[in-house]
Amino acid sequence: MCGIVGYVGQRPVIDVLLGGLKRLEYRGYDSAGVAFFQDDLIEIRKSEGKLANVEKLMNGSRNSYPDARCGIGHTRWATHGKPTTQNAHPHRTGHVVLVHNGIIENYQEIKRDLISRGHKPQSETDSELFGFLVLEEMENGLGLFEAVRKSFSLLEGQCSVVVMSEREPGTVVGVRNGSPLVAGLDPNGGAILASDAQPILEYTNEVFFLENGDIALCSQGGIQFFDLKTGKKLNREKTKLDWSVDKIDKQGFDHYMLKEIYEQPAALVDTLNGILDRIKTDPFPLAAQPGVKLLDQAKEIIFVACGTSWHAALVGKYWIERLARIPVNVELASEFRYRDPVLNPGALVVGLSQSGETADTLAVIREVKAKGIPTLGITNVRGSTLSREANSVFYTSAGPEIGVAATKTFSTQMLVLLLWAGYLGLKKSNLEELFHDIVKLPHQIEDALSESNGMVAAIKDAARGLQKAKGFFFIGRGFSFPIALEGALKLKEIAYVHAEGYAAGELKHGPIAMIDQDMVVVVLAPQDSWRDKTVSNLQEVKARGAKILAVGGGLDQNLKELSDFWIPLAPSTEALLPFVMTTVVQLLSYELAVLKGTDIDKPRNLAKSVTVE
Ligand code: AGP
Repeated sequence: MCGIVGYVGQRPVIDVLLGGLKRLEYRGYDSAGVAFFQDDLIEIRKSEGKLANVEKLMNGSRNSYPDARCGIGHTRWATHGKPTTQNAHPHRTGHVVLVHNGIIENYQEIKRDLISRGHKPQSETDSELFGFLVLEEMENGLGLFEAVRKSFSLLEGQCSVVVMSEREPGTVVGVRNGSPLVAGLDPNGGAILASDAQPILEYTNEVFFLENGDIALCSQGGIQFFDLKTGKKLNREKTKLDWSVDKIDKQGFDHYMLKEIYEQPAALVDTLNGILDRIKTDPFPLAAQPGVKLLDQAKEIIFVACGTSWHAALVGKYWIERLARIPVNVELASEFRYRDPVLNPGALVVGLSQSGETADTLAVIREVKAKGIPTLGITNVRGSTLSREANSVFYTSAGPEIGVAATKTFSTQMLVLLLWAGYLGLKKSNLEELFHDIVKLPHQIEDALSESNGMVAAIKDAARGLQKAKGFFFIGRGFSFPIALEGALKLKEIAYVHAEGYAAGELKHGPIAMIDQDMVVVVLAPQDSWRDKTVSNLQEVKARGAKILAVGGGLDQNLKELSDFWIPLAPSTEALLPFVMTTVVQLLSYELAVLKGTDIDKPRNLAKSVTVE
């Protein structure tokens, strides 16, 4: 997940690029850079670390190249290659300079071919390789636009690029295929491209949301859109972003909850940056912090939590036991504190609480700490009571969560627990691959949430079709079971609809008696080792008349045919599936709540932090 800006027009470009990148810095800040035309040559300034480092390289001033009017910029979240200056964008290949957001899946194959043709890539990135492809096409006589168009057809995966060439000063070409790209016309002349609308709103509130497979040609004269495959000109409608002050706060979303669902990729990026030491070599170690020592010593882990945090801990149990073979118990804080539980030597008690202020969770931490048992906190709030009272703390970095329903804090809690499982498991087995996958997670969630992916539209359809249902069961096995619990909680919490989460195998031990044609069963059956068993349970409720909303792998035709409503998931490794499914149950509850007209951000009877027992 990276941020891209491209501009050509009448304004000093350095100011436009640095101002735009500042607004996109939430998308990644491993490294950053800008490239701009000085006369007919392109200059590049880039650095590892935050954007401020690039600002320093511009003689500390955004006005240092006042005559430059055309350029591109980038703020990076590293997926291929470490966050170094060499790997930072823009990348230059001869006279071609580019920035890229997303992943080129067939980069190894492309790299092999390029090397066999005598090219020498300088960075570890997949991005740089695209420059060689464009350069070759231009050397063969194509102009920049056609060279980009042709080269892009060789890429597999979801990404966007913005490209310039010294052969065509004043031209910026952008392609969207998966990763977002938005365009706007500068009223002073020229055009701007960016990864979201924020940098553009500074100049105009009329924007063009590029669709997948669009290629944009920007010049002093404005912007034109074409079909990437056919090269035919397209008419793209402008969208007027008429944002009230309240909406600006919600960044255009109707509710904080929706905004926070869409903030999950950025929250995952920030949390990864906080917990992993990504400067070190792969697989990335956890950043040195006192809590790591407590983890190392744990012979058994006991999580105490409430509500959504309890669900995150349940997912963590599956991961830690599976990958690290350390016994894990997950306890409801309100039960644990009055149960007089047995605490074995070597036990580590972990309080999991986004607010860090939940009364029951804090009470457990205090009590076990008084007994000399080591305690750890995982919280989103720096300085919260949990962070001060536990022996040590790990932070999620989800940013402020205003909606009462926990969304991005849940994903980031799961992420911390997956990192723990990976870290503890690494000592015992070979889990390098897992860390490589985790680094791609924010990008994967961003793709899943993008309108063009199909998942979001399917969820909206399902919500419309199911809004009159009298009740819901959410079922799943393995990692999907806690996500089923979370789906049911979300639906109760914000839509006030009765819902229960169940382990799929448990339905026939009682609740199946409730199944009839007015009951909806949401079946979480992604392509994992539990899929077939869950589908058998689906058959049992379908035979009794339940309406089936199935969530599964996009290519799972059998599952699709068994369902009344179908939500396809993009391909994902098994460890990352809970994150993708989480976005489904969150959005499903949200859409149903919108149709019911409830107070989504402030559901009745609830509070964001529950400071009473
Ligand atoms: C989740 O949507 C709820 N608002 C609620 O269940 C919450 O997770 C629970 O109250 C625990 O809060 P905490 O994470 O701040 O401890």
